[in-house]
Amino acid sequence: MEKGKITLTMIKPTAVKEHHVGDILAHIEHAGFKIIGLKMTQMPKEKAMVFYEVHKDKFFFDELVNFMKSGPVVVAILEKENAVKDFRELIGSTDPAEAEEGTIRKLFAKDKTHNAIHGSDSDENAVKEAWFFFSEMDQFRY
Ligand code: TYD
Repeated sequence: MEKGKITLTMIKPTAVKEHHVGDILAHIEHAGFKIIGLKMTQMPKEKAMVFYEVHKDKFFFDELVNFMKSGPVVVAILEKENAVKDFRELIGSTDPAEAEEGTIRKLFAKDKTHNAIHGSDSDENAVKEAWFFFSEMDQFRY
C-alpha cells in the first residue's frame, strides 16, 4: 500500500440496505480504481466514533455515528494515481443536492447524512483509515 496512490472508501448503511453495492463497486472499477482490500463489516458505536473523531464537536456528530453503526458497510482500499483527489471527484459533493450529474452521490445518496459513500480527504488519512480497517494480510498486491 503506497501513500499517494490509495484511498479508503466505505459504502454506507443505506446504500448497502438498498442493494447498491454491486453498482457502486462497478462505478469505482470502471473509473480505473483497483480494489486492493475489500470487506463487509458493521461498526460498533465506539468504532464509528473513532473513525469520525475529527467531527466530534460538530452538530451532526451524533446523527452521523448513529447512522454509521446502524447497519453493515462495505469498506475498500482503492489504488490509483491521485487516488484521493480523483475519488472525491467520482463521489461528488457531501450533499447530493449539490453533487454533479453522474457522481456516485448524485446517483445513490439520499441526503447530507445518508450520502451513500465515504472517501478519504487526504493521503495521510487514507493510509490511517486503511490500517483502521485492514490488517497487512488483507491488503493485496496484484
Ligand atoms: P465531511 O468530511 O464534511 O464530508 P465528506 O464525507 O464529503 O468528506 O463530513 C463527513 C460526513 O459527515 C459526511 O459524509 C456526512 C456527515 N455530515 C452530516 O451528516 N451532516 C453535515 O451537515 C455534514 C457537513 C456532514
